Amino acid sequence: MIISLISQKGGVGKSALARLLAVEFIRAGWQVKIADLDTMQGTTTKWKARRDRAGLQPEIPVEKFATVERAIREADRFDLMLLDGPAHAEQGGRGMAKSSDLVLMPTGYGLDDLEAQVEAAYELEESGIDRAKIWFVFCRTTGSPSEDQAARDYLKRAKINVFDLVFPELPSIRQGHNAGKAASEISFPAVQERSAALAAAIAKHMQTKKAAA
Ligand SMILES: Nc1ncnc2c1ncn2[C@@H]1O[C@H](COP(=O)(O)OP(=O)(O)O)[C@@H](O)[C@H]1O
Ligand SMILES: [Mg+2]
Repeated sequence: MIISLISQKGGVGKSALARLLAVEFIRAGWQVKIADLDTMQGTTTKWKARRDRAGLQPEIPVEKFATVERAIREADRFDLMLLDGPAHAEQGGRGMAKSSDLVLMPTGYGLDDLEAQVEAAYELEESGIDRAKIWFVFCRTTGSPSEDQAARDYLKRAKINVFDLVFPELPSIRQGHNAGKAASEISFPAVQERSAALAAAIAKHMQTKKAAA
């Protein structure tokens, strides 16, 4: 299976979500690799180096790929390949999305983020990507329930799928990233549980799709 993480903007939480999913799927016994396609930044590759220096388990296979095609060619060797995309991906991420079973598009609550991401999703659709496999995830969220509701209403009007669970912006998660951890590995149980629950919801979605296929 292939899950891609796509956004036109940088800093929305693609790499954070890729790390979380990698850790949780590996814990569940899957063979997983993260393809770091953000070769300019190499954020996930650097994170993996910090993780290895800290001796954290499980080991997360991460590899930089210069092209999407090369990453996809390797995908067969894994149960799950996570395509951690760059900002401003080529063709708006079409190459990644085309081969993916699920396209995750992180967004914040603000219109600046939402509008850009909805536009990117529509572009993917126009280029032939099935709307059903595009799912938004509210990431790096700070704000009130009313902001959450307003953002959900916006996506409903735009006819965009979004997960119920969110990935909150928290200093402890940022510090965890600094130490080579994913959000579900940081020491606060409440944050661990919340992060793991988001990954589980995404895993469940994948299983349901697999069963239906
Ligand atoms: N839930 C979160 N809480 C705190 N910091 C976060 C969270 N998600 C991401 N970050 C931090 O925000 C920055 C951008 O996130 P990142 O996942 O690298 O975005 P992208 O891959 O979309 O560019 C990074 O410094 C990352 O550590
Ligand atoms: Mg990134």
